Amino acid sequence: MRELTRHVRAGAPAAGRHIRAAVSMVFAALAWLSLAAAPQGSAASQGSAASKGAAESQGAAAPPSAPVPWQRPLYGGPDLVGLYLTWSKDPTTTMTINWVDLYPDSPSAIHWRRVGDSGWAAANAARTVVAPSALQRRSVELAGLQPDTMYEFGIGPAPEPPTDEKAVKAIESSTWRFRTMPAALSPARPLRIVNGGDMMHTRAMVDAMNAQAAQIQPDFAILGGDLAYDDGVRGARVIDWLESWMRICVAEDRRLIPMVVGIGNHEVRGGYGGRIPDDAPYFYGLFTLPDGKPHYALDFGRYLSIVMLDSGHTTEFGGAQAQWLESALASREASQFLIACYHYPAYGTTKAPEGGLPIDNPRSVAIREAWVPHFERYGITVALEHDHHNFKRTHRLRRHARDDDNGILYIGDGAWGVETRTVPTPEQGWWLAKASPTRHLWDIELRSDGTATMRAVADDGSTLDTVTIDSPRTRPDAQHQADSHKGQ
Ligand SMILES: [Fe+2]
Repeated sequence: MRELTRHVRAGAPAAGRHIRAAVSMVFAALAWLSLAAAPQGSAASQGSAASKGAAESQGAAAPPSAPVPWQRPLYGGPDLVGLYLTWSKDPTTTMTINWVDLYPDSPSAIHWRRVGDSGWAAANAARTVVAPSALQRRSVELAGLQPDTMYEFGIGPAPEPPTDEKAVKAIESSTWRFRTMPAALSPARPLRIVNGGDMMHTRAMVDAMNAQAAQIQPDFAILGGDLAYDDGVRGARVIDWLESWMRICVAEDRRLIPMVVGIGNHEVRGGYGGRIPDDAPYFYGLFTLPDGKPHYALDFGRYLSIVMLDSGHTTEFGGAQAQWLESALASREASQFLIACYHYPAYGTTKAPEGGLPIDNPRSVAIREAWVPHFERYGITVALEHDHHNFKRTHRLRRHARDDDNGILYIGDGAWGVETRTVPTPEQGWWLAKASPTRHLWDIELRSDGTATMRAVADDGSTLDTVTIDSPRTRPDAQHQADSHKGQ
């Protein structure tokens, strides 16, 4: 007995430690459960962001997350990490459906049809592992589709034809929709695009702005880099970013919003000068880019071309990329609208070198040497810029000076879901028409008459800025010079 007592006493501190550890584990589990049950966009849901973003958000109030009444619930349906639509070919007749899960053996088949049709078609997705993680990506491109038409699809085998209302609802809850882009614009059919970059310091921030994007119900989004802030190594952040988009960026008609993506420094180990694909494995693993390159063009009928560029992250500014840009613009002179998008800005708001202005940053200088002369030579609608974590709209600029008649508009500056920085004073920032450290996205409407409106929207839904242009592209150099001679 004495032996036993001594034994128990000797073990008491250790047992106490175990009990305390067990109690703290229970509390941790309860705390985790309460986090998991917290509504999207609440302060608690920041806990799902990876350490870097969470650290950066400390002390900052969580932004309000606008409710999206048609947001899909977490329960039900396949166990997906992400579901996203992209294009590597004609957006008027194709759609690439991508989904990500954790299972090598889950179904790779989809069933799909035009909304209103009775039978289902089948297609098989290719499976790839998004190394270095174990995420499983499936991707299937549907081709030969009708323009401006709604389709629906589900993962796995096609359901039996419904025999009652309950079965119809079951099919609705296990399928998603997409709409192909129109073959042409008309007064009744403008095109609505949302744009932004630098998307996810915290889950709460990306959720809030994704909700604004969903409320706008755009045709698609142009996302200009620094998507998940994975830096090529943080797969957990990729999961958060994908899940937020899948759950929140859904339009009222259950339509998923396709994305056109560009690369930023936070897709790449080291940020700049990385190798394709090894240094940006999530970017190149998640997205099938035309020709496998981060600089590419997408053409929407004859009314829009989008040119995406790599601002030095895995491709040099000049050389082959600049040559490609010139030929891409030269062959698209007939496109009504032409939007250029890239991550690092030519006319930014921060990251000034010592003793200089933001526009003196060597990367900005490199863009103005390698790309801007081509923009001016061929004429563009607008340049979408990011990376600087502020809101900005420049004056119309040409030859590195203000030109209110035929200058190019540069809008940005990459603050979808990040902590903001500081902007130059009006006295310093001669190139800026408007700037502030405010999270926002750009809501862009292109109309058949060649006019366009660009509206900056904050994460509470308020409008920061609206600008309308009355001709679809700046006049190209040759025409600009002829007009100047006429005026002399
Ligand atoms: Fe960046």
